[in-house]
Amino acid sequence: MPQSNSDSIGPSHVAIIMDGNGRWAQARGRPRLYGHHAGAKRVREIVEACPDLGVKYLTVFAFSTENWKRTQAEVSGLMTLFRRYISRESRALVENGIRVRFIGDRIRLDETLVRLMDDLELMTADNDRVHLTIALNYGGRDEVARATKRLARDVAAGRLDPEAVDAETLAKYLDTYVLPDPDLVIRTSGEARISNFLLWQSAYAEYEFIDTLWPDFTGDEFARVVGDYAVRDRRYGAVPG
Ligand code: IPE
Ligand code: IPE
Ligand code: MG
Repeated sequence: MPQSNSDSIGPSHVAIIMDGNGRWAQARGRPRLYGHHAGAKRVREIVEACPDLGVKYLTVFAFSTENWKRTQAEVSGLMTLFRRYISRESRALVENGIRVRFIGDRIRLDETLVRLMDDLELMTADNDRVHLTIALNYGGRDEVARATKRLARDVAAGRLDPEAVDAETLAKYLDTYVLPDPDLVIRTSGEARISNFLLWQSAYAEYEFIDTLWPDFTGDEFARVVGDYAVRDRRYGAVPG
């Protein structure tokens, strides 16, 4: 059951739709990939801001199941960026106590990238300072469909009683099964939509849509947005008491 946050100060799980890299680059007359590189550099500062803000879980949207519709050059540039990012950041993530997980469908990702992802998850498995989840080839509808497929297989194999299936059962089949639901979802770049991000998990999340383009998003701004959350009254469908 969701808990009221009336006596807690901040969100324990923050999820971010890191949007606006392309526009940031365009404003500088540079190619979109330049913006993606600048955006990737921002992640460390936001992760490192988490412990002081009481944010234990941070989930970031890096690549959606719809982002394959972009040009081949942008997609392959992003895939190269993800491989480099993991290789370069691994050591700092391990040493800084960051536990990394990936959500999304790995089937369409190249072997080298998947191996790097698996290795990083393994290398950081004992960490507990911040739980960083990176959504890569992730889509909320795709996740629910994949979960349903596995659930249906269990029913067909006689391992699961269909009459016993409820929301909690389905949640256990999602990529996020080990994570609490997000308390706060932030989207940068001024777009007020969720673009298929954590559809199921964000049923009662608070949303913050901010105009800053992702490569300009700082630890200070993150702290301000997280601070604003503390004054909100989450009701979960009940009458305020
Ligand atoms: C977000 O920035 C990063 C990804 C979706 C990979 P965009 O690339 O969507 O940047 P804009 O929205 O075009 O400015
Ligand atoms: C959402 O941003 C996906 C990520 C940030 C990875 P998009 O830029 O892809 O979303 P739309 O196309 O504006 O909805
Ligand atoms: Mg965008």
